[in-house]
Amino acid sequence: MEIKQKKLWFSLILLSLITTTTLGEFGGPLLKGFYKESCPLAEEIVKHNVEVAVLKDPRMAASLLRLQFHDCFVLGCDASVLLDTHGDMVSEKQATPNVNSLRGFEVIDYIKYLLEDACPLTVSCSDIITMAARDSVFLRGGPWWEVLLGRRDSLKASFAGANQFIPAPNSSLDTLIVNFKQQGLNIQDLIALSGAHTIGKARCVSFKQRIVQPNMEQTFYDDEFKRQSTFRRVLRSQCKDSSRDNELSPLDIKTPAYFDNHYYINLLEGKGLLISDNVLVTEDHEGEIYRKVWEYAVDQDLFFLDFVESMLKMGSINVLTGVEGEIRENCRFVNI
Ligand code: HEM
Ligand SMILES: *[C@@H]1O[C@H](CO)[C@@H](O)[C@H](O)[C@H]1NC(C)=O
Repeated sequence: MEIKQKKLWFSLILLSLITTTTLGEFGGPLLKGFYKESCPLAEEIVKHNVEVAVLKDPRMAASLLRLQFHDCFVLGCDASVLLDTHGDMVSEKQATPNVNSLRGFEVIDYIKYLLEDACPLTVSCSDIITMAARDSVFLRGGPWWEVLLGRRDSLKASFAGANQFIPAPNSSLDTLIVNFKQQGLNIQDLIALSGAHTIGKARCVSFKQRIVQPNMEQTFYDDEFKRQSTFRRVLRSQCKDSSRDNELSPLDIKTPAYFDNHYYINLLEGKGLLISDNVLVTEDHEGEIYRKVWEYAVDQDLFFLDFVESMLKMGSINVLTGVEGEIRENCRFVNI
């Protein structure tokens, strides 16, 4: 009896060891502190150089965060987004959501260069993106979290996948929900991750459809209604004609420099910049999403908690681990 119990405990402990070491927290076989032995300075090197890059260009924090989203939604978090066009493989950088828009490649290249010097062929490009996204959020005043590492890099890119899987800024709520679901992310993840639009900028071409939309926001007070039309009038004048398609506007008009919960306050006031932001409060017929937006608008800690959880989930989409893929020497090309 006693022996049986001991055996049971032993196998339970073994089982939990196996699941925590090989499966990680969200089913992806990733680990905290993956480079502790093989490259002890990895996280420090990334952090320091993200800091330098963001000091030089504050927007870089937003750009590096977005880079992880666009990586993970196409073939999984495997740095496929970093590959340049080569031979008959067309780069994801050329796809509609990315071209003239996605940034931060030089920062990742420089960090990779330093890491190849410190520990050759050890730290994957996809893990660099993951660490850089985390550090960027923290640098702008957002939460810090322990990232799961151990991703490996893809041998290919998918131009078609980038066009198909990265949602368009004029997506309806239903489209966004389906789009996230395809990645194993739920409505809660959609709401929390959209909060990334508390930092960074968008081009006129991304939101001009939104500002010519007829007034259809939920409005509560007359003065609220007036402020909204002012919001749109200002943007309309900024994006007057197509020669201004590349003009930039902050995604969070109130506190663009800070990673905070103002994104959600903006949404409630009808001041979400993209159609895809605004639909979270205008197309939610059950009221479930609206309620969550309201909760985040009044409780920043709750937003931070949920954001971190969803970032861990997004960062685990279809990862390559173990002997899958490779550790690229140069993030722009597969190894020869
Ligand atoms: C829900 C669906 C989403 C849509 C439709 C969307 C769309 C967009 C668009 C159109 C832009 C502006 C691009 C430009 O005009 O050049 C943008 C910027 C940005 N997005 Fe999203 N996005 C979504 C979700 C996310 C998620 C999940 C994240 C990260 C977790 C994210 C992070 C960012 C950031 C940080 C920026 C600013 C980038 C910069 O200033 O360089 N977005 N997004
Ligand atoms: C989104 O915009 C594109 C053009 O940029 C247009 O072709 C498409 O019909 C729009 N989709 C929706 C749902 O409005």
